[in-house]
Amino acid sequence: MNSFQKEVDERISAMPENKELTETADAFMRASTMPKYSYNFAWQGRPIIQYPQDIVAMQELIWEVKPDLIIETGIAHGGSLVFNASMLAMLDMCEAIETGKTLDPKQSTRKVLGVDIDIRKHNRDAIEAHPMASRIQMIQGSSTAPEVIDQVKEMAKGYKHILVLLDSNHTHEHVLAELEAYAPLTSKGSYCVTFDTIVEDLPAEMFPDRPWGPGDNPKTAVWEYLSNHPEFEIDKSIQHKLLITVAPDGYLRRR
Ligand SMILES: C[S@@+](CC[C@H](N)C(=O)[O-])C[C@H]1O[C@@H](n2cnc3c(N)ncnc32)[C@H](O)[C@@H]1O
Repeated sequence: MNSFQKEVDERISAMPENKELTETADAFMRASTMPKYSYNFAWQGRPIIQYPQDIVAMQELIWEVKPDLIIETGIAHGGSLVFNASMLAMLDMCEAIETGKTLDPKQSTRKVLGVDIDIRKHNRDAIEAHPMASRIQMIQGSSTAPEVIDQVKEMAKGYKHILVLLDSNHTHEHVLAELEAYAPLTSKGSYCVTFDTIVEDLPAEMFPDRPWGPGDNPKTAVWEYLSNHPEFEIDKSIQHKLLITVAPDGYLRRR
């Protein structure tokens, strides 16, 4: 490790002790949830329902893991599918530069597979018309339906480096079922990222019209899943560096 990286790592490890910074970040998370801050952004023209900090963290993970398949539950407007596809396109471009091989983007085997219970027509049309579309496949159905899980597992068979992202229904029961179904597809050294674990840390009044809230959310599901799955560990360095994230305890690394 070079001295610059060593300093970065040391600074990140010390972040949780910086009370002013962590309290300010926590206050920002509390203040930004109800105004729907996460809905303010787009990636290559498609709305992406994420905090910019988590998008940067995903960029770092994709560069580190170099996945050939990204599985994501929860498509919404498709911004995160397009983001993930664009990151895979960059991996392909870097590989082409390194190997000197020419590459037809439409022939790339690197893919993103999205699952959503309700892919609205205008969203599907826009995703299918996007320049990144050749890298994107979508399945409509509940991510916990056996026939959907079977289709995802079938597609995953041909891939070696798989990254899994869970961002659909945020109840404990649903996320736990998603973890049981999809976390095992995560390759060693790769991640299963479970979004919206932040719900556990926010007041119940912030989710008046949602079936999830403190005590029943992705973080409680992650904790239960990890109690029986020592092959996964929470990569705390990611939440320590981000400070502002919807996924505290949600960046799960497969050992
Ligand atoms: C938070 S949004 C996803 C945001 C998206 N990942 C992004 O970053 O832009 C949640 C999505 O989950 C979908 N959803 C809800 N219940 C689901 C289920 N049982 N199975 C699959 N998708 C579901 C909703 O239709 C909605 O589009």
